[in-house]
Formats: sequence, structure tokens, C-alpha cells
Amino acid sequence: MQDLAINGGPRAIDGTLPSFRDTSGRTFGQEEIEALTEVIKSGRLSFLTGPKTAEFEQAFAAKYGVKHAVAVANGTAALHTAVIYLNPEPGDEIILSPVTDVGTAIPVIAQLAIPVFADVDPVTQNIDPASIEANITPRTRAIMVTHVYGHPADMEAIMAIAKKHKLVVIEDCAQAHLAYYKGKLCGTFGDVACFSFQQSKHMTTGDGGMVITNEDGKFGRGLRHCSDKGWPRERGGRNHLFLAPNYHMTELQAAVGLEQLKKLEQFVGARVSSADRLTELLAGIDVRPVLPLEGTVGVYFFYSFRLDPTKLSAPVTEVMKALAAEGIDGFIGYPGQIPLYRYPVIREHKTFGDSGWPFTLKGVRKIDYDSSLCPEAELACKETICMWWTDRLEERHLLQIASAIEKVITHYSARTYGRG
Ligand SMILES: Cc1ncc(COP(=O)(O)O)c(C=O)c1O
Repeated sequence: MQDLAINGGPRAIDGTLPSFRDTSGRTFGQEEIEALTEVIKSGRLSFLTGPKTAEFEQAFAAKYGVKHAVAVANGTAALHTAVIYLNPEPGDEIILSPVTDVGTAIPVIAQLAIPVFADVDPVTQNIDPASIEANITPRTRAIMVTHVYGHPADMEAIMAIAKKHKLVVIEDCAQAHLAYYKGKLCGTFGDVACFSFQQSKHMTTGDGGMVITNEDGKFGRGLRHCSDKGWPRERGGRNHLFLAPNYHMTELQAAVGLEQLKKLEQFVGARVSSADRLTELLAGIDVRPVLPLEGTVGVYFFYSFRLDPTKLSAPVTEVMKALAAEGIDGFIGYPGQIPLYRYPVIREHKTFGDSGWPFTLKGVRKIDYDSSLCPEAELACKETICMWWTDRLEERHLLQIASAIEKVITHYSARTYGRG
């Protein structure tokens, strides 16, 4: 076995891998350039004057077979629009996973609802239905389900719980474009679903987002008004109906989105087949890839694998440094090495001035957002390596990624270290 690159040996990955950060890992063609040129030449950069945003919404709704789609500025805006649509009372509780982007939690807090974290399934790292049920109280309004890493959460169990307790379900599909749960598209189970088109996502508009639903007006307000200043433009006049931000997507984003959407199957298919190939290559190595549930199609936003610290001779942080030195583009834990609830915005209530709202509002449930809250999420964040994934990985890259992982894991498998 060769010396590790971190110790001065040769790198297992010669050169850099395709990256979501630039064209090495993003697929844009003449189509996107022409679409953008058309918008700029038309001088119509806003949805108010140009057709692209509406066209993108219609195409996206058709792809998902739903009645309504509203394009917005980014994925966080999409989720915020969904929570505004639901219109919770201050202090209402919304259950979510701690293994997700902060963009899932920000909209809850911004609407003065309380984020309640359910633990995750140790294998899929998706929200655990049993923990959802254990966290339901009379104040629970909704469950926000992130399909993390692009792998479907257990929607059958989650929808049964939602039905039993009359809860709204918001699906966070920011990482799960065209993921399927038992033959049905993720994003078509809940009341509302949200997508992100940020730079690293399966399709991208730089930043961008979409909210979809089959039942507009279900909670007494129009979905579109929730990202448009509460403004019922279709009725004329300026009668702002309720508090809502301006989250419009621009025509420039929509023009790119329309072209990217046409290639979405190709992007997702490439991510999945490279991931399947890597799983094959890692078969003899002592790591546990995070795989989709049986009967589902996961779409690999990241390729993640779990390490067992009790079998390693160094902390996971050292192993990650060694992997990076070999050329692996990854990091430990999602959203980081601690679950979402332990970041200052939630744990220390860093919200509105010094008020601590909504966490300090009278009569709301007080939660200690500390490391005892979700034990499985705590472990997952410490023991999982997430690798950035793209649709541009080729066989030669996958062989090198596998050999980098094998080299590093073999090196550190020498003696017991411990969970620590
Ligand atoms: C699961 C999840 N939810 C929400 C978001 C927020 O999306 P955006 O970054 O587009 O605001 C992201 C993207 O990072 C995400 O991965």
C-alpha cells in the first residue's frame, strides 16, 4: 500500500474531480446561453413583463403532474413561501429533521413557529417516523420532510402519521429532484413541496426555487400571494392581504431553468448511475454508503458514507483530512459536525433583536436544543463523510475515488480508536 498523500505519498486522484463549482461539474449548453440572450435582448427581465417565469412554472408543474407551481428566488424562499401559505399561529410547532440545511428551519422561525426536531433513522439519515410521532403535541401543525442526500424519506409511514394527527406535510425536495418513493415522485405526497435550484443542485439557475401544490388556497390564502407581498395582482389594485415577502424569480433565472429542466432526467440519471457504480467499487471496503430505502429511487445530491469510529485508528476528522489530501471533495456531517439545532440561531435563539422570539414567546413549548436531543443525528453528523456529487463523473473518476477511499480506510483500519 502506498503512503498516504497526507504523509507525502502520491495522490490517489490525479488532478481535480468535476465540481459543482464550475463547468467541470455543471452542464450548460448553447441553449442556456441563447435563452439568456433572448431575455436580455427583449429587455424584459421581470416576470411582470416577460413570459419565461410563467413558462418555467408551467413546465415544472407538468413534470410533477401538479396543478400549481410558483417560481421563487431560492430554496429557502420556497420553504418560507410554503410556511406562510400554511399560516401557523405564533408558537405552533413544526416538526423537522436536524439533518438538513438551515434553509429548512429559517422559514419556521421567521413565521414565529417553533422548530421541533425529530431524530433520524440511523441508516438513511432521513427523519424517523417513530420520532415524529413521539414529538407530536396539541400545538403541532406540520411536518417538514427533507429527502436528505436526495434519498426519499419513509413517506408511507409519514403520511399515515400526518393523516392520523391531521398535520400538514411540507416536502423539502431541495436535494431530491425526480426522486421516487414506491413509484411516486417525491414532492407529490405532501400538501406542498419545495425545490432549490442553487448552484450545487441537480439542475441549477445559480439560485432559484419552486413551490408546488395541488390545492391552492387550502389554508385560506393563495400560494402565489405568499411570495408576492400578499398581493392579489390578478384582482387589480394594491390590496395587500397579509404579511409576505417579495421572493420573485427573475426572467434570467427562469430562462436558464427552462433549459435545465429539459435535461433534468439526464442529470439525475448520470448522478444515480455513477453513485451505483461507486457503491459497487466500495463493496469490499469497510465503509457504509448511505443508500436509498428499498423500493425507492434516491438521486444522490451527495454521495455519503458512514464510518465506524470504533474500527479506526484516528478520529474521523483525521480520516477526512487524509481523504481531502488524496483529492476527495467532501466534508464531515450534514449540515455539519453537529445537527442543525445546535447552531446559534436555534440553540441560542439568535433571532429578532434580543427578544429570542419565537422561542421565548409566552406559552410556547421550551426545548433545550442540546446534544441529548437527537442521539442518532448527533452520531450521523460525526461519522458521515459527504462527497459532492455531479452529473459529470466518469468511470476514471469513480475508480480514483474508490481507490482513494480504500487507501485511506485501509491505512486507518489498523487499530481500535473509539467513538470518543
Ligand atoms: C435540504 C435543503 N433544504 C433547503 C435548502 C435551501 O435552499 P437554498 O440554498 O436554495 O436557499 C437547501 C439548499 O442548500 C437544502 O439542501
